[in-house]
Amino acid sequence: MRDLGRRLAKLLRAGDLVLLSGELGAGKTTLTRGLGEGLGVRGAVTSPTFVIARVHPSLGDGPPLVHVDAYRLSGGLDEMEDLDLDVSLPESVVVVEWGEGKVEELTEDRLHVVIHRAVGDTTDEVRHVTVRGMGARWAGAGLGPLSA
Ligand SMILES: Nc1ncnc2c1ncn2[C@@H]1O[C@H](COP(=O)(O)OP(=O)(O)OP(=O)(O)O)[C@@H](O)[C@H]1O
Ligand SMILES: [Mg+2]
Repeated sequence: MRDLGRRLAKLLRAGDLVLLSGELGAGKTTLTRGLGEGLGVRGAVTSPTFVIARVHPSLGDGPPLVHVDAYRLSGGLDEMEDLDLDVSLPESVVVVEWGEGKVEELTEDRLHVVIHRAVGDTTDEVRHVTVRGMGARWAGAGLGPLSA
């Protein structure tokens, strides 16, 4: 998941919204950690206990990574109003764990990453990941490098 995040980082630029779906422990934060490494941002990406959003500024001249964990939020964007995601999105890469059904209003262009864990056999650590690009931003964008 971390390596996938590193590869995904190469495709991302400021203004990109990434939604991460998948059950508890699927690997959403682990993927985001790889994203942060790939983007070259400051600070370790962790699972926030109280903080629901953290900004990781770039160590170079790339976009900052805004990492949101919306697990504890039941509502939509209005509940996240204080985060000003609409303001930071144009200049940042915004990644939202548990964001499905909550933050789509931000933009029509988004990348939806769904992580599936093999059902039934809990000892199986294999993950199946579906990456779907939506909107004009991703219409012609090749996601091929991800499956390398
Ligand atoms: N492909 C994988 N194979 C084995 N272990 C993995 C894999 N992906 C993630 N893990 C491990 O699973 C645990 C949970 O991962 P992580 O915190 O990234 O999940 P999450 O989806 O963010 O969970 P949450 O829903 O609680 O936010 C971590 O210990 C992580 O190292
Ligand atoms: Mg997490």
